[in-house]
Amino acid sequence: MHLPEWMRRRKEPSGASERPVLQTLKTTIGNLKRVPTLPEAATRAMVVAKDPNSSLADLAGVIERDPALAAGILKLANSALYRRGHGVASLQQAVVHLGARECQNLILAVGMRSLFLNVPRERQVRYSALWRHSYLTGCLCRQLSRALGLRFEGEEFASGLSHDIGRVLIGLGSPEHAEAADPMDFIEGPEVLLREQAVLSTDHCYLGAWFANLNNLPASLVSAVQFHHTPEWAEEHQPLVALVAVADHMANYFQREQRVDGYDAASNTAGPLLQEHVASGRNFLALADDVLTDAVNEVHLAEGGAAA
Ligand SMILES: [Fe+2]
Ligand SMILES: [Fe+2]
Repeated sequence: MHLPEWMRRRKEPSGASERPVLQTLKTTIGNLKRVPTLPEAATRAMVVAKDPNSSLADLAGVIERDPALAAGILKLANSALYRRGHGVASLQQAVVHLGARECQNLILAVGMRSLFLNVPRERQVRYSALWRHSYLTGCLCRQLSRALGLRFEGEEFASGLSHDIGRVLIGLGSPEHAEAADPMDFIEGPEVLLREQAVLSTDHCYLGAWFANLNNLPASLVSAVQFHHTPEWAEEHQPLVALVAVADHMANYFQREQRVDGYDAASNTAGPLLQEHVASGRNFLALADDVLTDAVNEVHLAEGGAAA
């Protein structure tokens, strides 16, 4: 199926030719920002975590100013996934235990989780499936990056985790249209964007990229959010965008079929594009089954003892 020309041209998430429905949606979602979806402390902590001149003590100092964020980091540091040996009692210990890069991922995960938890209770089941999809896609990005010898430094997890953030925004900002626009069937082909466009005059890629920009998330993450369904159109950060597209396809397979075996890696249309960026000589097709198994196990482990 061919996508309309306007989608090909949209490079700037805040374009001038927006229709009223998009404006309404933006206004609603802009208001929801008062419920701090990505708390200011989380945004600041991500900057500090990335700064090579900052110490772990600086990072802990920023995190502890936000009690919800501090509690979330402490909880995750003590979860089955991150716990090694005895537990950690203080935030300082947790930050040292996890390291700056892992903290950065967890800060974003806590922020994203809070966004999902803003969904009204009667729709929580639906959005907990989407949270699982987001978390699994993040884990797949990290596992694929390691297995293929790609040189990402944590941004791949953050980008996978955030890639469908626009779907949550649609659920929050336009709940009356959310089910028609997004049946949550984990079939994310080109028709998804066309359906959303028909119902909402926008789509989750465009909306998610706008929101990521608004929250000062890194440009690479914005590209991944915007182009994860059309990675060949990404003019910047294409390896990361292709990685997220590949991981998304794998996560959707698992969530549709509820099994890891039988995955046909050759049907992943973003696979060849990702492979172009693999310098290690390793092959996605040969690794896909093991990566999917490992990532699903990682999610199960996290679900057994953490907020994921
Ligand atoms: Fe998507
Ligand atoms: Fe997705």
